[in-house]
Amino acid sequence: MCGIIGCVGRPDETLGVLIHGLSKLEYRGYDSAGVALAGTEGTVGIESTVDIEKRAGKLENLRGALDGVSMPGSVGIGHTRWSTHGPPTDRNAHPHPDCEGNVAVLHNGIIENFQEIRDELVADGHDFRSDTDTEVVPHLIEEALQDGANPEEAFREAVSRIEGSYAIAAVFADTEAVFCARQDSPLVLGLDADAYYLASDVPAFRDYTDRVVYMDDGEFARLDPEGWAVTDASGEPVEKEPHVVEWDAEETGKSGYDHYMMKEIHEQPRTLRECLRGRVDELGDQVQLEEFAGLAPPSSVQFVACGTSYHAALYGAQLFREAGVPAQAFLASEYRTSPPPIGNNLVIGVTQSGETADTLSALREASRRGASTLAVTNVIGSSAARECDHALYIRAGPEIGVAASKTFASQLAALNVLALATTRSADSRAAIGALRDLPSDVQAVLDESASESVAREYIDADAYFFIGRGYQYPVALEGALKMKEITYKHAEGFAAGELKHGPLALVTERTPVIAIAVGDGDAAGKTVGNIKEVEARNAPVIAVTDGRSGVERYADHVLPVPESHPRTAAVTASVQLQLLAYHSAAQLDRSIDKPRNLAKSVTVE
Ligand code: F6R
Repeated sequence: MCGIIGCVGRPDETLGVLIHGLSKLEYRGYDSAGVALAGTEGTVGIESTVDIEKRAGKLENLRGALDGVSMPGSVGIGHTRWSTHGPPTDRNAHPHPDCEGNVAVLHNGIIENFQEIRDELVADGHDFRSDTDTEVVPHLIEEALQDGANPEEAFREAVSRIEGSYAIAAVFADTEAVFCARQDSPLVLGLDADAYYLASDVPAFRDYTDRVVYMDDGEFARLDPEGWAVTDASGEPVEKEPHVVEWDAEETGKSGYDHYMMKEIHEQPRTLRECLRGRVDELGDQVQLEEFAGLAPPSSVQFVACGTSYHAALYGAQLFREAGVPAQAFLASEYRTSPPPIGNNLVIGVTQSGETADTLSALREASRRGASTLAVTNVIGSSAARECDHALYIRAGPEIGVAASKTFASQLAALNVLALATTRSADSRAAIGALRDLPSDVQAVLDESASESVAREYIDADAYFFIGRGYQYPVALEGALKMKEITYKHAEGFAAGELKHGPLALVTERTPVIAIAVGDGDAAGKTVGNIKEVEARNAPVIAVTDGRSGVERYADHVLPVPESHPRTAAVTASVQLQLLAYHSAAQLDRSIDKPRNLAKSVTVE
């Protein structure tokens, strides 16, 4: 899940373009960064005729190392790393050279057969300088060059030897071109009038162009000042259709907020409106999904997803069950280990990025076993969108903060529309009306939340527990995940009824319990009962509530949400919990947009 950028055709600005691109990709990994420039003679860095500079740590360290340094190459590649092989050190940072420094290679993914190739190359006298799997590739290229191949042939030959997942790119001394290839890791080309880019994700070059070409598995590309060309593994040209991305570069800036996460939390009224546009009518009594007009109602549904998206999947499964359709959510990483019977299931992968390796592999497994598959994703052209039989876009726009916020809200909204449109649900009128009102309900929470002062009150807490029932159970799990991700404090989410079956032993006056109780139904009533159990152990209670269950009587603090349907109250409640986590992390001065050890897009299993 590293970030890759490449650039051709900006001879005087290549380094600046690479660094700018890396700054937009840092969310994909940030334990080291590096660049390699070529096309002109090398001037700095390690002994090399391709200029390479790389540093452990955040991009700032690389910027510092480059201060005052001239790297005049006319083509280049850059990398921001989330380590899988070898600790995050200068020497393990990408790009990696061959023995002579004529080639530089960077890579996102995992080379599964690297050890056998490395042993072979070491036996042949190659000098390895890193612990990475990637480093076998420049040495394989070197061998092919020595055997008389030209750079393009050598790149192709080296890539054909490796097994595993990769978005990989290389530059060569005295060659004005960048070569790249993709297998199970995202790679997109950017096309401008006289410059070409490659990247793991569009924001890396969105400031320069909106025309993109999504590469598919098994494809190679060559970018040079004359143009771009995509070929298949055997070198045959592949016709690719350029797409125009619809969001503008401003959407990837912070717009005056201190952090992307806060900006993204505040974008939710707009992004929810976007998600629901054309899908829920103005009167709030109809939903439609044109893209699924011909899709037969599913007889049963399995969801696969990870992390936040798994919480959305748990919620989605409940929506389908409530409509009378058997549905279950699975952790994608467990799905292949112990595959459930596939039957007539529609298998739905919920994945913001559309590139999460565990989710993709679960979807592939389902597809291999004959299931029809559907991706609920944010990223047009992502692997999940392209590989599944159907795709439902959540339309949340680019999310830069590593912790998911607006995309979770849009996943829940999109799943509501999906469940309503593909099933005949009895209670649909109230649910559809609530969906229509959801953007303004979220705005009301953003306008009035007391989360900052509540966060301050409990900033020294030992741990935070989140509880909820029904639709509020996945919200409790998500609230705890947000809290632990960005504050680094212990936080757990529980089904409210489970608390007394063990976790209650952990509850003290230093463990605030955040309870979500909305509506006046059975779930809220029983949650109130669970809160009394907590209160009796002197734990502070923070209630997220619309005031209909009477829970305020037992709460030390209230984070209010507007009265609405329990399904949409799950979204407004999760916004309160996003704000609570954000303000806690801000008061602890944490690295909110780039929490330690995490990366936005997890492309390894
Ligand atoms: C948490 C978070 C992760 C992702 C998970 C799946 O804030 O963002 O837990 O939800 O890595 O990612 P996607 O949705 O891209 O498949």
